[in-house]
Amino acid sequence: MSQIAFHLNGAPVRVSDEAPTRTLLDWLRESRGLTGTKEGCNEGDCGACTVMVTDESGSRALNACILFLPQLDGKAVRTVEGISGPQGEMHPVQHEMIRHHGSQCGFCTPGFVVSMATAHLNGATDHDDQLAGNLCRCTGYAPIIRAAQAAQNAPVPGWMTTDRDLVSPAQPAAQPSAPSAAGSGFRPRSSDELAAWYEANPDATLIAGATDVGLWVTKQLRDLTPVAFLNGVTDLQQIEETGESLRIGAGVTIAALRAALAPRFPSLGELLRRYSSEQVRNAATIGGNIANGSPIGDGPPALIALGATLHLRKGNTHRQMPLEDFFLDYRKQDRQPGEFVAFVTIPAQAPALRCYKLSKRFDQDISAVCGCFNLTLQDGRIESARIAFGGMAGTPKRARAVEAALLGKPMTPETAEEAAAQMARDFTPLSDMRASAAYRLTTAQNMLRRYVHDLNGDPVSVLEVRA
Ligand SMILES: Cc1cc2nc3c(=O)[nH]c(=O)nc-3n(C[C@H](O)[C@H](O)[C@H](O)COP(=O)(O)OP(=O)(O)OC[C@H]3O[C@@H](n4cnc5c(N)ncnc54)[C@H](O)[C@@H]3O)c2cc1C
Ligand code: FES
Ligand code: FES
Repeated sequence: MSQIAFHLNGAPVRVSDEAPTRTLLDWLRESRGLTGTKEGCNEGDCGACTVMVTDESGSRALNACILFLPQLDGKAVRTVEGISGPQGEMHPVQHEMIRHHGSQCGFCTPGFVVSMATAHLNGATDHDDQLAGNLCRCTGYAPIIRAAQAAQNAPVPGWMTTDRDLVSPAQPAAQPSAPSAAGSGFRPRSSDELAAWYEANPDATLIAGATDVGLWVTKQLRDLTPVAFLNGVTDLQQIEETGESLRIGAGVTIAALRAALAPRFPSLGELLRRYSSEQVRNAATIGGNIANGSPIGDGPPALIALGATLHLRKGNTHRQMPLEDFFLDYRKQDRQPGEFVAFVTIPAQAPALRCYKLSKRFDQDISAVCGCFNLTLQDGRIESARIAFGGMAGTPKRARAVEAALLGKPMTPETAEEAAAQMARDFTPLSDMRASAAYRLTTAQNMLRRYVHDLNGDPVSVLEVRA
């Protein structure tokens, strides 16, 4: 690996002679002796390995177990060892964790403390969401949430605010490294650089947020080289409004997507709130979510229901297609060697878009079924219908027969009932550990019924009904 430079708990470090897929967690524990960062699941699920990573756009919590060293180039990392002050002063969240008995065996505590300190720095007080990616087996969450609440108004300690200066573009040490050679972790800084290199190295693995690819290394022990890291490709990280549409770069993280889209599409915002955890949303990109072709990804059903167009690039050749056409078969996508996802475009408005995610856990769980609905009405009748599901087939897929059964009809429970009967023509779902085939079919039909009530203004969220 060519040399990378970043700051660790305020001090500059340079790393070379490491495999490009060396995880930050392994490096911290094995090469630096920083064992406060724990290994629980080693797959992004438990948050025991949470670290704070700062770049020009701010500080965020990330899972070190699925973060590769080259992704840190030019950034500042703070581990639990750097959360207390230089003279050993406790951070307010540490103080309140003790006061509220937020720790028993203590295994999860460093991860919680880093997540809490990062949220505290950012002024975030949605503690349930901020901590949904941190699992605790013995304390129970109430004392931890009480500790976060008790600390939220305490001033941010001075030592927590210095990382931002370390990654300022004015600091030469923070500049991203020059693109490195094939085979050692290519780090392009523009989509032009990426396009030229990937066309010449079509067998390479692209790594965006590494929330899928990380597991290929930590769980499947795969050798992925050559690899290219996309996190320095800033022109793929933009969301631009162009007339009546939004252009979303493939490198936009789920966290950034949620922040940008939730005000326009509240239901999609709520879906993205339940997309894994804070740590995963801060890393995962929408391009990775599309490109991996998972039948249970949450992004594609929503984007298909919105009528998204996918834009691909290979060298200087660009092509586009309706997003639903990209998914050919189980894990088989219409993408050529050397071609990458550049961006998607969606309409800027869709007042009738609704997204429903069904999973065994509310937070931090992959969907059993994800249904997204988007109708337009003309004179009280359904003029157009786009309905897409995840978890119902080998790919994210539109419910064409259901859509056809809705067209020209009034938006009533009776219409929904008739159309729901078509669901079995569209889908023959599988039974697996997340849900049985019968349950999936029934629940997809129920989502359609729910949609009609939702558009009619009836309360349909379990959370609203409970409140
Ligand atoms: C704990 C955990 C929970 C999760 N929960 C959810 C969830 O609730 N909902 C959900 O939908 N997903 C979930 N995921 C899956 C994962 O977060 C998503 O699929 C994610 O969006 C992948 O994006 P990434 O940037 O991390 O992709 P990476 O892991 O970097 O890459 C994934 C694949 O896409 C390719 N790729 C990446 N970018 C491009 C590009 N621009 N062009 C072409 N190919 C590209 C890579 O080569 C690779 O094949 C979860 C994952 C974890 C670890
Ligand atoms: S060790 Fe569990 S999320 Fe990293
Ligand atoms: S204190 Fe034991 S797992 Fe949380």
